[in-house]
Amino acid sequence: MLRDESACNTYNYGDSVYWDARYINEASAGSFDWYQRYHALRPFVRKYVPTSSRVLMVGCGNAVMSEDMVKDGYESIMNVDISCVAIEMMRRKYENVPQLEYVQMDVRDMGLFLDDSFDSVIDKGTLDALMCGTDAPISASQMLGEVSRILKPGGVYMLITYGDPKARMAHINRPIYNWKIELYIIPRPGFQKPLGSTSSPKSYLSPVPVTENGMLPADYVVEDPDSHFIYICTKMSEKSNLSDSLTVDI
Ligand SMILES: C[S@@+](CC[C@H](N)C(=O)[O-])C[C@H]1O[C@@H](n2cnc3c(N)ncnc32)[C@H](O)[C@@H]1O
Repeated sequence: MLRDESACNTYNYGDSVYWDARYINEASAGSFDWYQRYHALRPFVRKYVPTSSRVLMVGCGNAVMSEDMVKDGYESIMNVDISCVAIEMMRRKYENVPQLEYVQMDVRDMGLFLDDSFDSVIDKGTLDALMCGTDAPISASQMLGEVSRILKPGGVYMLITYGDPKARMAHINRPIYNWKIELYIIPRPGFQKPLGSTSSPKSYLSPVPVTENGMLPADYVVEDPDSHFIYICTKMSEKSNLSDSLTVDI
């Protein structure tokens, strides 16, 4: 889902009314994690997000990712979503889990949070949802501006998306954010490697080399066409050397 423009046109992923209706319809099903479950993302989360971090999960939906992180030792996760239905359900479900907080909020305006107040922001599918809405580039820029504002210098925005660098770099790699960006590519759950493939699961744990402007090298082969992309965006302090980070002219 959300793989291409036609998926965007079929569903109103950028619209809170769509999400409220969806969470009401699926209430009996319990929870659903888009793209990947925590166990698959754990190597990246543990590498870039210390367990003592103050974490913000943007567009948490009814995913169990935050619960799994708490079971893995994470101490403080603030979860926000535009859907009041999802937030109410999750608040009730986790009322006895003090590490988890749920607040209804539009990620394009997170004025409730102070500047530099989170160590880490995790986004699994939320920028993707905004990219399907009306005025997508404006929504993306509002959201990413807010993420940049609330992240502490040295903090990390982890973006898990179906969007490859051609679709995402122009939005995330802007000098105004001053983010150093690393990229990982992981296959979708259940992907069967083609016969004769020589890659090992371990190779997914190495960052993918990108060109000077953040694109995949021309000869780079993405084994699974439905791969997920993980962008690790580290907020450099103002004094950091910008030449260390990727920059793209947009
Ligand atoms: C593709 S789902 C991902 C849910 C969850 N992160 C997961 O991995 O399963 C996108 C989520 O973003 C939320 N969302 C969409 N637009 C939003 C906005 N402007 N502000 C906050 N949340 C939003 C939706 O309600 C939905 O829960």
